Amino acid sequence: MSRQSRSWTIGVAAATAIVYAATIVLGLRIRDFSWFDLFKSAGQPRTAWTPPRRSDLPHGALGESIRRGEKIFNETPLYAAKYTGARISCGSCHAEGGIQPFASPVVGAPAAYPAYSQRAGHVISLEDRIQECFVRSENGQPLPYSGPEMHALVDYIAWLSRPQPGRRPYTGRGLAALGALPANPQRGGEIYATQCAGCHGEHGEGRLPLFPALWGPDSFNAGAGMHGIPKMAAFVQHNMPQNRMGILSAQDAFDVAAYIHAQPRPPFNPAFSKY
Ligand code: HEC
Ligand code: HEC
Repeated sequence: MSRQSRSWTIGVAAATAIVYAATIVLGLRIRDFSWFDLFKSAGQPRTAWTPPRRSDLPHGALGESIRRGEKIFNETPLYAAKYTGARISCGSCHAEGGIQPFASPVVGAPAAYPAYSQRAGHVISLEDRIQECFVRSENGQPLPYSGPEMHALVDYIAWLSRPQPGRRPYTGRGLAALGALPANPQRGGEIYATQCAGCHGEHGEGRLPLFPALWGPDSFNAGAGMHGIPKMAAFVQHNMPQNRMGILSAQDAFDVAAYIHAQPRPPFNPAFSKY
């Protein structure tokens, strides 16, 4: 190659690289220009839902109650000790303090109640729904309806659920349901040993304070929603292993849920069957 044609080739390569890089940068940038968005989706809010900031907490009694609710939510056995039998918190399942998408977030719950409950066979309030999690998921006892703990939890959930003017509404309510699959608990045991035991313990006993129990005396009881294989599979497939979310297939999740389902756990106390 002559010197001239070599420098021509280099020139073309450099120009191509510059155009290529500029396209990527522009492609990314253009989406950030709010005027561009205006053409695309006039009238739609343009900014994502964001967790409410602690600095925006109201002053006075309501702020205090919300703060108390957050503590009860994230450290239930400590801040609602009288009503909690398990050593797991609301936030052990309603992850990230109740805002993690598809981990049964409580964001938006106030607007979803009162609602008909298949389990109860009648219309229930948000407070009733909280009681269900106390007597089943927390293997505990119902709270007094007008006590400070119940008020605090309702205030906290309402605060998370406040509409956010100019922002997109929260997405990710409920669980990412997987349908029904036949499950193999034996295979699930192998998955448990390699993917779960490191955090939740060889015998599902958990490692407090970080990692909650999955079965045994410290776990939720047999009346809990999480005791259903499809429900646990939906939770696990989307949210576990917590440090590598998304690595399990739907089949893996069903198998490991069936394995956990076969382990011992506290019975549901029939005295609380009205919840
Ligand atoms: C062992 C796991 C677990 C624990 C612990 C737990 N929950 Fe739940 N909770 C669930 C599941 C599962 C659901 C139903 C989710 C579904 O079917 O989409 C639920 C549903 C709810 C709902 C209704 C949500 C909605 O949007 O309809 C509320 C409110 C709630 N729980 C509050 C609490 C509170 C407060 C605590 C702590 C006292 C708690 N939960 C502890 C698993 C748990
Ligand atoms: C890196 C640690 C880690 C690993 C690995 C892990 N988990 Fe978890 N798990 C957690 C934490 C922490 C929570 C509490 C919720 C949160 O913060 O996401 C949790 C919560 C749960 C819950 C709901 C709470 C309860 O006590 O029942 C279930 C069910 C669960 N994990 C199952 C599994 C399964 C099944 C696996 C393996 C496939 C697994 N986890 C792997 C850390 C882990």
